[in-house]
Amino acid sequence: MTLTGKTHSGNLPPSTVDPGKIRKDFPIFSRLINGKPLVYLDSTATTLKPAKVIEAVTGYYSRYTANVFRGIYAISEEATAKFEESRGLVAGMIGADPAEIVFVRNASEALNVVYSSWAKTFLHAGDEIITTILEHHSNFVPWQQMALQSKTGFRIWQSDPKGNLSLNDLESLVTKRTKLLAMTAVSNVTGTILPVAGIVKRVREINPGIKVLVDAAQAVPHMPVKVGDWNADFIAFSGHKMLGPTGIGVLWARRELLEVMPPYQYGGEMIREVHRDRTVFHDIPHKFEAGTPHIAGVIGLGAAVRYLTSLGMQSVRTHEQAITTYALKRLQQVPGLKIYGPETADLRGGVIAFTLDGIHPHDTAQILDTDNVCVRVGFHCAQPLHEYLGCGPTVRASFYIYSTEDDIDALIKGIEKVKKVFG
Ligand SMILES: Cc1ncc(COP(=O)(O)O)c(C=O)c1O
Repeated sequence: MTLTGKTHSGNLPPSTVDPGKIRKDFPIFSRLINGKPLVYLDSTATTLKPAKVIEAVTGYYSRYTANVFRGIYAISEEATAKFEESRGLVAGMIGADPAEIVFVRNASEALNVVYSSWAKTFLHAGDEIITTILEHHSNFVPWQQMALQSKTGFRIWQSDPKGNLSLNDLESLVTKRTKLLAMTAVSNVTGTILPVAGIVKRVREINPGIKVLVDAAQAVPHMPVKVGDWNADFIAFSGHKMLGPTGIGVLWARRELLEVMPPYQYGGEMIREVHRDRTVFHDIPHKFEAGTPHIAGVIGLGAAVRYLTSLGMQSVRTHEQAITTYALKRLQQVPGLKIYGPETADLRGGVIAFTLDGIHPHDTAQILDTDNVCVRVGFHCAQPLHEYLGCGPTVRASFYIYSTEDDIDALIKGIEKVKKVFG
């Protein structure tokens, strides 16, 4: 059985996301570069920021800059309240308990906390880790390195050439020794949406002791995600991929796991008592947040969550599915253009990686840039996947709430220009 994370089967429900209106909230769209407007098709790398997020960040710096949890004075208390309010907003968005939300720098750090704290403590030589061929390096390299250093088994769940995984493969991949499945929810290259809940259920039927870590860097910003629906153990995502500031990310983990995991870093504010010979650590989540945190980043992320939840995550997904459908249709009509990943938008996130026959992706991107069409080229931090697909670097166009059909038309026009220059 091939697994799909299909999000809609019939007609799409109407989306309240109106990109024409939304673009007015993003100051960057008022900028002309070399006299031309911006065509931003790189939201998988990082998203643009709405004024509300920028104002939340500057508001902290201009009106109530102070450290959190430390000051017995009004602006410090204000900063602490806003900081914890953001934790509550993030928790609410994914249906979690705020105590289970750990602020880190980005999705990569969240995944590394699981590696450095949980895996290094609880995994031993002979235990097995499964990951998928679709992974970003951030959820691949830690497990590969763990295998090299600690002699844990490292097994890779392969996809078919379209980037789809087969549930049947789990029968042979999962064994009694499997301790961790580290998987993405949405590929940042093929866009494949994995049915996380179904996978979690199946692996636990085979081995109830398995922990599941989900890299949700391309899921939480783009579709409804609830921790109770997935039933995973760890979830990692980045603020900057969901309208928030850079330098702030989130690790969600089950309370009982966070409680037994040792701290990731030591320092101020993660302790309750320190004596010459011993330290008592703070409660979760503070035990994992040593030192002064990225206060402005957390507050900005709170504003981003507010913005996204006011649109509704199902509407965000519906808009992306519609724009991806349009993009797939237009790109499929270009002779010599090869698209990687599932064929239809209901099976994929708002990301399309492609190559043009005989034209190097870097040349493509450079010509596109002459009209401010911003795409990413390379391996997109997923080199094992590119090697598996048997392609070199690819061009990647990706979409978000502000993406319009005009953006796709500009991409197609740019590709025609590329073909003229190099064809
Ligand atoms: C699927 C996936 N996982 C992890 C990451 C890493 O995110 P960050 O660079 O914010 O740590 C990315 C970034 O592109 C991603 O797309």
